[in-house]
Amino acid sequence: MTTCSAPGKVYLFGEHAVVYGEPAVPCAVERRARVTAEPRDDDRVRVSADDLSLNGFTVTWGGGVDDRPDVDAPPALVEAAMRYVDEAVAQTRDALDDPEQGFEITVESDIPLGAGLGSSAAVVVAAIKAATAAVGVDLSAEAVAERAFRAEYAAQDGQASRADTFCSAVGGAVHVEGDDTRRLDAPQLPFVVGYDGGAGDTGELVAGVRDLREQHGFAADTVGAIGDLTRSGEALLDDAASNGLTDERLAALGELLDVDHGLLSALGVSARSLDEMVWAAREAGATGAKLTGAGGGGCVVALDRTDATETALELTPACERAFRAELATEGVRTESE
Ligand code: MEV
Repeated sequence: MTTCSAPGKVYLFGEHAVVYGEPAVPCAVERRARVTAEPRDDDRVRVSADDLSLNGFTVTWGGGVDDRPDVDAPPALVEAAMRYVDEAVAQTRDALDDPEQGFEITVESDIPLGAGLGSSAAVVVAAIKAATAAVGVDLSAEAVAERAFRAEYAAQDGQASRADTFCSAVGGAVHVEGDDTRRLDAPQLPFVVGYDGGAGDTGELVAGVRDLREQHGFAADTVGAIGDLTRSGEALLDDAASNGLTDERLAALGELLDVDHGLLSALGVSARSLDEMVWAAREAGATGAKLTGAGGGGCVVALDRTDATETALELTPACERAFRAELATEGVRTESE
């Protein structure tokens, strides 16, 4: 029996635009999915999961990957979660060159599902690492990232970038631009996350941006503008890593977060709850705030060294939970064997 964990992430810059080859900078945060895998003697896969949210719903299921679980959660989210697990198992079997290997898999996570914190990527990364390790195959973080990307790509019908899976596998702040994936030097950033208790449908949101981009030149320009903004943000981050995260550099990074949120809103992926949390954070003194991930609901990320943003978010009706998120410098790791 092997247990592995992998972190969730927030996007400092670049979600959605990364799907079209623009750069993105996701940052792993210390909220982890833990997956325990044990080989079975037959070809069945049994999955059990609970507490797949901060304090929202609970998911429990058991059965083969072909069975649909009996759960207390929105059916669309459960359906999506099952697709990720199916694809992670397929990648594991491929890595083992054994299409018939069965597993007992247990998933625990403190990353809310579908909320923009990379829950599916963290589960897929931890599952592939744990299931391969359980039968004695030691995959590097990069190899896990590659297989997790293929699993996510299949689960999202070919509409996925490498950003979430690479970030979760290697940890820290990363640069993703098409196939170019690497770790960045980054200072510890004062992230504050606000969570509205809901979720967005990544597939639908990505498809919506794709349609808008095909129909309107302005939407294609907006995607390009997010890419330009991300390049500026990356240069600032590099400067802060070498010369310190001064108040001026934090303010400059925050300003770019604000602009990024505006551009994402123009692409139609924000939501009233996300806008309310973004404004609450700004009014409390955050240097900047934006939605993170696919949008439609879920989480915002703000930068603030003080407690003011977290307190203001806690008092905001649209916000179910606010918390500080530390940069996770370690990606996927083995917790016990
Ligand atoms: C979802 O967490 C991030 C998106 O950019 C999709 C992707 O990169 O696969 C919206």
